[in-house]
Amino acid sequence: MLDIKNIHKSFGNLEVLKGISLSIGKGEIAAIVGPSGAGKTTLLQIAGTLEKPDSGSVLFNGTELIGMKDKKLSAFRNTNMGFVFQFHQLLPEFTAQENVALPALIAGTSKKKAMEKAADLLTQLGLGERIHHKPAEMSGGERQRTAIARALINDPEIIFADEPTGSLDSANRQEIQDIFVDLRDRLGQTVVMVTHDSSLAAIADRVIEMADGKVLPPAIEVELEVTDCPEEESLPIVNPLDAGRDGSEDLVGDSVQQV
Ligand SMILES: Nc1ncnc2c1ncn2[C@@H]1O[C@H](COP(=O)(O)OP(=O)(O)O)[C@@H](O)[C@H]1O
Ligand SMILES: [Mg+2]
Repeated sequence: MLDIKNIHKSFGNLEVLKGISLSIGKGEIAAIVGPSGAGKTTLLQIAGTLEKPDSGSVLFNGTELIGMKDKKLSAFRNTNMGFVFQFHQLLPEFTAQENVALPALIAGTSKKKAMEKAADLLTQLGLGERIHHKPAEMSGGERQRTAIARALINDPEIIFADEPTGSLDSANRQEIQDIFVDLRDRLGQTVVMVTHDSSLAAIADRVIEMADGKVLPPAIEVELEVTDCPEEESLPIVNPLDAGRDGSEDLVGDSVQQV
């Protein structure tokens, strides 16, 4: 459903994306992982048309999005794509229900319908008692669930999530993880997420590794064990002469060894 081809992007002299191509299938959860600064957020923003590439193509169900006029693109994005960010980005002066309803109102849904659907989604996500609360009156996990409800309000074809559990404790991370699994299993929701959270990456159908502005070739091991990726820990370069030197067979499993 989403075909990204040969995306290049620089900020000034800094070449952040060096020819990225990937395809996301309908109903798939794809996790993009890799060290900080690899270009993951930039790629997600370009895939979600929030940022423009210098060159390359983003095809959405066969429609080229690069070069589409801003107004048309905003409308397209609002109805087809949902976004969840690390920091919920809810509007502080609005209630949870109003925040969730907003993209539907923008899409031209009546206020009554939008508010009903918002309440319904929030209830499904366990926030039935919180719909009239403002973000400041909710916990981090509740805010993030509200942000997911907002991403879902227009029944998007795809959800982009950038470190959706990045600012949550482990109980709340687990909840968000369960929600994504449920969305895929129940609705066939397509999700592209960027994450450092290894247990969240583990629910993905496919893990895409990025480093230094490129997508790395698929790892040999199918059973990916993504490291819990401390920021500075980039992919170790394994010297074949060293492999197993200390009798350890962990090299492959621990570090997602490259071909
Ligand atoms: N708007 C911007 N202007 C200048 N540099 C940017 C901008 N956005 C990102 N960068 C730089 O691009 C590189 C990749 O950033 P990013 O895509 O956020 O990586 P990641 O999400 O993998 O940590 C970083 O070096 C970052 O500082
Ligand atoms: Mg990022």
